[in-house]
Amino acid sequence: MDSVNSMRIKTGILIFLSLFSCSLLKAQSKMTDHNSEIKVLVLFNTESGGTYKMAKEIAAGVEKLSGAKATLKQVPRIKPLENEARQAFGNIPYANINELAEYDGIAFGSAVHFGNMSADMRYFLDQSVGLWTAHKLEGKPATVFMSAGSGAGREGAILSFWNTLAVHGMTIVSPGIMGASEIDRSIPQGNTVFGASSLSGATGDRPSKGELHIAALQGYALAKAAKGYQLTKTETSPATVPLTPSSQKVSRIEARLKELNIVLPAAPAPVGNYTPFRISGKQVFINQIALKAGKVEHPGIIGTEVTEEQAKLATRQTLLNVLAVLKQAAGGDLDRVKQAVQLTGFFYTPAGYTKHAVLMNEASNLLVEILGGSGMHTRATVGASSLPMNSSVEIQAIFELE
Ligand SMILES: Cc1cc2nc3c(=O)[nH]c(=O)nc-3n(C[C@H](O)[C@H](O)[C@H](O)COP(=O)(O)O)c2cc1C
Repeated sequence: MDSVNSMRIKTGILIFLSLFSCSLLKAQSKMTDHNSEIKVLVLFNTESGGTYKMAKEIAAGVEKLSGAKATLKQVPRIKPLENEARQAFGNIPYANINELAEYDGIAFGSAVHFGNMSADMRYFLDQSVGLWTAHKLEGKPATVFMSAGSGAGREGAILSFWNTLAVHGMTIVSPGIMGASEIDRSIPQGNTVFGASSLSGATGDRPSKGELHIAALQGYALAKAAKGYQLTKTETSPATVPLTPSSQKVSRIEARLKELNIVLPAAPAPVGNYTPFRISGKQVFINQIALKAGKVEHPGIIGTEVTEEQAKLATRQTLLNVLAVLKQAAGGDLDRVKQAVQLTGFFYTPAGYTKHAVLMNEASNLLVEILGGSGMHTRATVGASSLPMNSSVEIQAIFELE
């Protein structure tokens, strides 16, 4: 074979190998799509631990489905629970309302309180208006499990819990009669066709083996539904195809944010007994610090621990948090904001510091850049000897809605 021929054969082999490896890569990435982890949140609220025990079994049931991963989280409390740190569930983290959007399925667990969900759970879900108006939970599978005392009103409690999930457009998963024929019928059992429950006031160890068995089956059923959801969640619903020209309206402020390449962060959840915004008449009141993904951005004293440039970045982040909360307050539509009214900037500064206005301009300029003329506001800046969570900046803001 001459050298020209041998060169041709080598080139042919190389082309074949590269085409083959390309199609292998494509096939592999398709497989990854189908095999990506199914994320299920098991979100619960408990005082004496009964709901937590059920939650663990729901999570175990979820993970029986190959590729499914359960994350246990607690609902933040309106009022701190004494000795929580020493309870078995003391190290389970609190959830943030916005993270509900990130999962492929959610199991909600609560104690039965007077035939209803607990007040902590109710308060937490009442913060989901932003998720609701942004259609974030639509189609996502959800299921409910509960811990009761005598069991009084437990079915009603699960059914009334479903109302909130239905308003969100979630797909409700119920256990039906799964596992009911396998449990010991000689003792009272908390099984319902709507969701697993436990009768903590009945005799014997509670949750009973039967109650836990049904919880695990319910978790598994939720994981299966979550897998189906994961495969179809990016499909566009035909219902979102605009019917009339008015439904084609593009939000002015959202378009402006896109133009400026700004993505609003998730609105930080409150860390105490307060609400992220309050509407009084047409005015919205908001306070934020420089939280970013649960951590404070550039914390510390400006001028010594934090440079001026870092303080400006923290100020920018704080204003973006304010806008994220404002969007929630406006029902997801920033076009409903008539005007900014006032900004007050607090800066963690040493005595004698004078450049507050320079730092605050970062927030003022950004607001006007986004909202245009209606972003113009009155302003105050103050030096503070400390700020919450060691944040270098805090902004109080007042806006007016249409
Ligand atoms: C304010 C309050 C109201 C309650 N209402 C009911 C009820 O309507 N029906 C019931 O069966 N148990 C009721 N219980 C009992 C709890 O549901 C029961 O103790 C449950 O196991 C607590 O769950 P936990 O261990 O997760 O906190 C109530 C308890 C409290 C504190």
